[in-house]
Amino acid sequence: MKKLMFFFAMLCISYFANAQSETLLSVKPAGDQIVSKHIYGHFSEHLGRCIYDGFWVDENSPISNKGRIRLDVVAALKKINVPNLRWPGGCFADEYHWRDGIGPRNERPKMVNTNWGGVTEDNSFGTHEFLELCQMLNCEPYIAGNVGSGTVEEMAKWVEYLNFDGVSPMTAIRKQNGMDKPWKVSFWGVGNESWGCGGNMTADYYSDLYRRYATYARDYPGAPLKRIASGANAEDYRWTETCMKNIGPNRMWGLTLHYYTLPTGNWGVKGSATKFDEAQYFNTMKNCIRMEEIVAKHSAIMDKYDPKKKVALIVDEWGIWTDVEPGTNPGFLYQQNSLRDALIAGTTLNIFNNHSDRVRMANLAQTVNVLQAMILTEKDKMLLTPTYHVFDLFKVHMDAKYLPISFTSPNYTMGDQKIPALNVSASQDSTGAIHVSLVNLDPKNKISINTDLGDLKWKTVTGQILTSAKLTDINTFSDPNKIHNAKFNGAKKSGKVLKVDIPAQSVVVLELK
Ligand code: AHR
Repeated sequence: MKKLMFFFAMLCISYFANAQSETLLSVKPAGDQIVSKHIYGHFSEHLGRCIYDGFWVDENSPISNKGRIRLDVVAALKKINVPNLRWPGGCFADEYHWRDGIGPRNERPKMVNTNWGGVTEDNSFGTHEFLELCQMLNCEPYIAGNVGSGTVEEMAKWVEYLNFDGVSPMTAIRKQNGMDKPWKVSFWGVGNESWGCGGNMTADYYSDLYRRYATYARDYPGAPLKRIASGANAEDYRWTETCMKNIGPNRMWGLTLHYYTLPTGNWGVKGSATKFDEAQYFNTMKNCIRMEEIVAKHSAIMDKYDPKKKVALIVDEWGIWTDVEPGTNPGFLYQQNSLRDALIAGTTLNIFNNHSDRVRMANLAQTVNVLQAMILTEKDKMLLTPTYHVFDLFKVHMDAKYLPISFTSPNYTMGDQKIPALNVSASQDSTGAIHVSLVNLDPKNKISINTDLGDLKWKTVTGQILTSAKLTDINTFSDPNKIHNAKFNGAKKSGKVLKVDIPAQSVVVLELK
């Protein structure tokens, strides 16, 4: 009898525990809001091994390339439909003089890359090479002009070189260098981190300079610029306020924001990319989801000056920034990429999708061999990181209609602290297919979800998942496919309800048709 009562009590406990952990999610029909494909943008700076030894190989290299651009890297990035690529920096942009990077390569002057390791930059990868890369990737270039150490004239002439189709001094040089027609670059950054490496300016001083530089960065026929002002660092709301007030919504297409996830929250000792315990993981994710509040607060300030949301908030640098891999040049920012990075990528992309009324462009830092990289290379070998696989899963959201969602997340607790374990976003593509991306940050507990899709029509559900046994798991050159996307069988239709069990520490993307 005692045994029977014990069994009954256990049954009740497990029933209530399960009932408690069931999350109700509701997905509403689409309005006009689009998840811009440009949220899925990337960033390639002259930093460490991103360009040189990443995209760009030595002359006569045995690695398969076209005009020195690495073909395996291009093929991998084409698969995820990279929409735009930011270049040449970052901090490098404000020391870059574009005329050093055109013309015969053996005549190009060399420079010191003072920001990143003090190495010699030979300028072999310049304007033509970058735009060739963008053409190969079928993506839009996003160029950051030099405000910090450049001149208004230098920036104006670069735009003329890129975008003018008539007779002019700059177009004559461009033609001499083998490019008859202009590229018509549209995304144009006016400086980078002007509060820091881009000149240590005040917001008032920068916004005046912006107006001056932006005036002479001309719109040439058929090539109107989308001018982008250098925005705030993380919670510097005063910077956004000043730019919105002084520049105003009619003089810029976008205003940027940079926010990096630091595992420790401390720039001095950031923490290892691969060796961390659960407490450090929790802290990292706590720092990652601060993006939600930061984006919301900057957006609210922008709303005051621009209620029609004409100006895009562009998070053109984001990602996890850890200590460099032991034994590598500290100025090269080379770090490995674990399952933790994938959870950061999924969470951040969900945040951007959910703020896509204002966040209309973003750029992960950086594409190859730097910070939260998509791709790592070692001589002729190349591997796709867990972060890459998340971008592969989330590409279904690009330019799809945003679907509003609501739910109350279960908590992921660590000692006396808690963060939401679950984050979600949803969209509907032009064929009517609905995509729901879900991230479970809790490393121990699955999350069971009942989803009410109201009047949205669907008959079948399929899905893909990215997870691994340990948060510290990584892809290596000897085991490049340890972490990869796999078929997901944890979702089913039950009447009108979508039931999903999201395993611990996983990213899941569902397709409902
Ligand atoms: O992405 C690395 C650096 O971080 C960029 O050059 C700079 O803009 C930022 O501080």
